[in-house]
Amino acid sequence: MSSGGRYKSLKGMQDILPPEIYLWQSVERTAREVFTSFGFQEVRVPVAESTELFIRSIGENTDIVEKEMYTFNDKAGRSMTLRPEGTASVVRCYIQNNLSNLPSPQKFYYSGPMFRYERPQAGRLRQFYQIGVEAFGSAEPEMDAEVISMLRHTLTKIGLDDIVFQINSIGCEECRTGYRKSLVEYFSGTLDNLCDDCRRRYSVNPLRILDCKVSRCAELRTGAPVITGHLCTSCRTHFDKLLSLLDLLHVAYQIKPDMVRGLDYYTGTIFEVTDQSLGAQNAVAAGGRYDRLVREFGGPETPAVGFAIGMERIIELLKRSRATAVRGPDVFIAAVGDAGQRESFLMADSLRASGFWIETGHAGNSLKSQMRKADRLSSAYVFVLGDEEIHAGRMTWKRLSDAANGTISMNEAADFLLKNRS
Ligand code: HAM
Repeated sequence: MSSGGRYKSLKGMQDILPPEIYLWQSVERTAREVFTSFGFQEVRVPVAESTELFIRSIGENTDIVEKEMYTFNDKAGRSMTLRPEGTASVVRCYIQNNLSNLPSPQKFYYSGPMFRYERPQAGRLRQFYQIGVEAFGSAEPEMDAEVISMLRHTLTKIGLDDIVFQINSIGCEECRTGYRKSLVEYFSGTLDNLCDDCRRRYSVNPLRILDCKVSRCAELRTGAPVITGHLCTSCRTHFDKLLSLLDLLHVAYQIKPDMVRGLDYYTGTIFEVTDQSLGAQNAVAAGGRYDRLVREFGGPETPAVGFAIGMERIIELLKRSRATAVRGPDVFIAAVGDAGQRESFLMADSLRASGFWIETGHAGNSLKSQMRKADRLSSAYVFVLGDEEIHAGRMTWKRLSDAANGTISMNEAADFLLKNRS
């Protein structure tokens, strides 16, 4: 099909249409159900925030902040940014609305579009959707385990098999002070070969070199020291306890000592779920603990942990294993004559009120052409309503999948559809 029209959607931003939208809706429904069973409640936060909110949380030297933010000045000259992720906004919301006064832990979920000015490719968009969760107020490894196990349940219920978590701990500030030193030492010999960004990061935040996407930097970091060797006793104990809880719950994981994640706010546990078949953009969900962010934003000392699922990548995986079935109306009511037209209009109205998807034909068109239209719309059933039917109070039904047919009393229409719902 040629794509017409004068305007195109912006690069990296896409329309989501039927029938694929049904997969989206089903994933969203499943996530909501699972989250609810774990006591997570929905919050809706704005898609834009003050730019500083993201710089202070995600980190000045991250790719997201350095290269990928949609930042504008509003008409009053204030800098605002389309959210590149949800955690910073939810933390702001938690503090602003005094949610810390409620009994902890407070557990929230959210969903919606995020914006990152990245180079678009398969599974990487500039407007993409996340479903995320954030749990505030518990520093215990049980909460990490609960959140990870909830993600596993969600992905399994959605229909993804063999979920394996990649997991690591990047420790607390204390662990990282020592680690930073050993990184600086390690990279000091190869500094000239790092990319410009990493040369800068070397002095301000050497951990970020571990997350650089430039292949030269990736090569140079093979053999770099890993954080695991620098964990303090309390971080080590937390991580070990978490692993034993995951064992208890039979959650499959691989420890990835070199994993760092691309956002600065993490402390302690970090994790990702990847799917190798997705190619380079293979993380379908990711998250971790961020025990300092609420405090840094001016709230009370509040440990927190969460994750976000990347919708486009989940849908891509589902599309491979599941046909995206075209959906059509429950019934197409074909009308014959003026009385038939009137009656079909009435019946459609009452069946729609009972929740059925009803389309109606036009008595001005032949019955044959109305049947063709019902077929094109992929209607499950056709009812035929004309003078004779109205007079007798009975109408003909036809099932389009196998041409089965019969008659029913007109006032049994809703019962008939309920009984025969596919
Ligand atoms: P993130 O790793 O930046 O973490 O993103 C989470 C997920 O969003 C990724 O695993 C991926 O599936 C999806 N994603 C990210 N960027 C894109 C893109 N350009 N196109 C398509 N999908 C993308 C966060 O955003 C954290 N806020 C997660 C979190 C919540 N940590 C604690 N709480």
